[in-house]
Amino acid sequence: MAETRPVDVHPPYLYPDYKSTRLRAPAQPLVRVAPSPLETAGPVFPKRFVGESEADLTTWGTSAPLGENPHPVDDHDAPLDPNFLGKGQVLTDDEGRYRVVTVKPGAYPWQNHPFGWRPAHIHFSLFGNAYAQRLITQMFFPGDPLLAIDPIFQSVPEAGRKLLIADLDLEQGIEGVALGYRWDLVVRGPRATPMGV
Ligand SMILES: [Fe+2]
Repeated sequence: MAETRPVDVHPPYLYPDYKSTRLRAPAQPLVRVAPSPLETAGPVFPKRFVGESEADLTTWGTSAPLGENPHPVDDHDAPLDPNFLGKGQVLTDDEGRYRVVTVKPGAYPWQNHPFGWRPAHIHFSLFGNAYAQRLITQMFFPGDPLLAIDPIFQSVPEAGRKLLIADLDLEQGIEGVALGYRWDLVVRGPRATPMGV
């Protein structure tokens, strides 16, 4: 699948300013392994695998979440919101549309470099009909000044960066309650969303 993607929008395996890539980037040429029938044809996720309510991340707790929330796996000592688990899942409809409701994430500090802060972002993991059809990436918010100094966002070639930023689309929001954003994901082809972010 890798050679079908345009290389000019996807981040390189090694981007030294993003420190963990120094350790995890392959040091040897990749070896291509032909996918087995299981990886290309199945398993297909049954529809019951995803409950409709799981697309709304604000209704998992006993009351509404407080709002901006620290990363669920970080080691920062900011208080956790007991009414926000930080994850959800949704099936796309027959036209590939999806909708999730969540609190807007905040920036959080990380140890990559002195005074390092990640811009607000949401991690996405997409599955097709089989485990091998997978896209992992991040969505960012428009106008965030931290984008300019985020080594993860900056590791994406310039042509790909705009594909990771959602568009403000108020009518997709909830009147009087929540802003709406639109973010289109393309799994393959010339408009593919940068992956591996
Ligand atoms: Fe994150």
